[in-house]
Amino acid sequence: MANASDMNSSAMRHLLVPAANMEKLGSETLPRLERSGGIYVYDESGRRLMDGPAGMWCTQIGYQRREMADAIAEQAMTLSYNSPWYMTNSPAIELSEKIAQLTPGDLNRIFLTTGGSTAVDTALRFVEFLNNALGRPSKKKIIVRKDGYHGSTSLTAACSGREGNWKNFDIASDKISFISSPNARLHPGLSEADLLEKLVKEFEDRIIELGPENVAVFLAEPLLASGGVIIPPAGYHARFKAVCEKNDIVYISDEVVTAFGRCGEWFASEDVFGVVPDIITFAKGVTSGYVPLGGLAISDKLVARVSGENAKGTFFANGYTYSGHPVSCAAALKNIEIFENDGLLQHVREVGPYFQSALRALEQLPLVANVRGTGLVACVECLVDKSATTVTDQDKKIGARIDEIAFELGLIVRPLGNMCVLSPPLVITKQQIDDMVGILKQAIVRTAEELG
Ligand SMILES: Cc1ncc(COP(=O)(O)O)c(C=O)c1O
Repeated sequence: MANASDMNSSAMRHLLVPAANMEKLGSETLPRLERSGGIYVYDESGRRLMDGPAGMWCTQIGYQRREMADAIAEQAMTLSYNSPWYMTNSPAIELSEKIAQLTPGDLNRIFLTTGGSTAVDTALRFVEFLNNALGRPSKKKIIVRKDGYHGSTSLTAACSGREGNWKNFDIASDKISFISSPNARLHPGLSEADLLEKLVKEFEDRIIELGPENVAVFLAEPLLASGGVIIPPAGYHARFKAVCEKNDIVYISDEVVTAFGRCGEWFASEDVFGVVPDIITFAKGVTSGYVPLGGLAISDKLVARVSGENAKGTFFANGYTYSGHPVSCAAALKNIEIFENDGLLQHVREVGPYFQSALRALEQLPLVANVRGTGLVACVECLVDKSATTVTDQDKKIGARIDEIAFELGLIVRPLGNMCVLSPPLVITKQQIDDMVGILKQAIVRTAEELG
């Protein structure tokens, strides 16, 4: 089946991909990648494309790192698998210790999963287990934000505030309560401080309305990545954590996107956003996308409430065949070593501001309503009416057209409606940032010209 047209027709006949357009199933297929190197991928025709979204916010150290491939191969030849239900392995132990050193506060207990959704799902199940063990079976509600994204299991999808993804699915919404997105653009005229007060009050009111005895979790990304790189007002997370503490609510920081260097730190919760959560979830960048892995770090304080004497004979019977997979853990250890040897966090702190200011300069262009971000993650939001607070179908079409032109010019932009999201591999250089922003600029200018 070497030839390209056979491959495409086979894809159309057999593949069901995430977010498949079901109307076009069987008649359309996605661009197919064949190989990669550095911050570039190459499609079936050999065309080089700059990887603007770092795959799916994950290819931190870049593609084709020989030392990573060697570490994976070596572990595969040493111990390729063990059942995590009744055995463990050295890479999983070493990785847990290493991650515990990198997390803030006393988040020292590490549970390893297969990706981000299973990490968040496990975090939520851990809190469910905790509250049942503590004899408070009604404390089950999960408060989340509109525009948040937490995964694709039944429960994590229900926690994700983008209703467009819910059509034709049954959503377990009885447990979930949504509060506002902290997007400043939706609150024109409010100062940052006033927006913060408004959002904190909404949270406190919601807890009173639901009853603190019924609220188990506040689940939040430090910045709402898939919602369009929305950065909450300064002090937001610390204030929300204080409210959680007052009401004995577990604060879960979903760092599936922000951990492992995206914001210039191992974890963004404390170092970038000033909060020490009770649980942090991570995935993606932990292996730079070479193999799947996710996990969560839980505070010793929380674990102590349901372990030892407090366990009363119970088992935390949650897990996966591939929890703590030795090959994935060896890859994560090598990934962390590469970060350290390359000084990758320092590199992000250096090139991040350059990336942000190059993108902010695009605000001068027609269509560009807002540019926001931090470190090496940013969103260029495009609107026909730059001051609008709602997004029209035309805005979404414009976003798609910009992505299309950028693609023709050799840059992949994450397709997210009217928002152009960029989160390149962390090894990107200033010259490559110039190339990337240059292509995006051309794509926006050409789209504006087409619009007339
Ligand atoms: C913040 C956040 N949480 C969880 C997930 C789910 O991760 P995965 O797709 O690895 O299951 C994602 C995926 O993009 C995410 O952005």
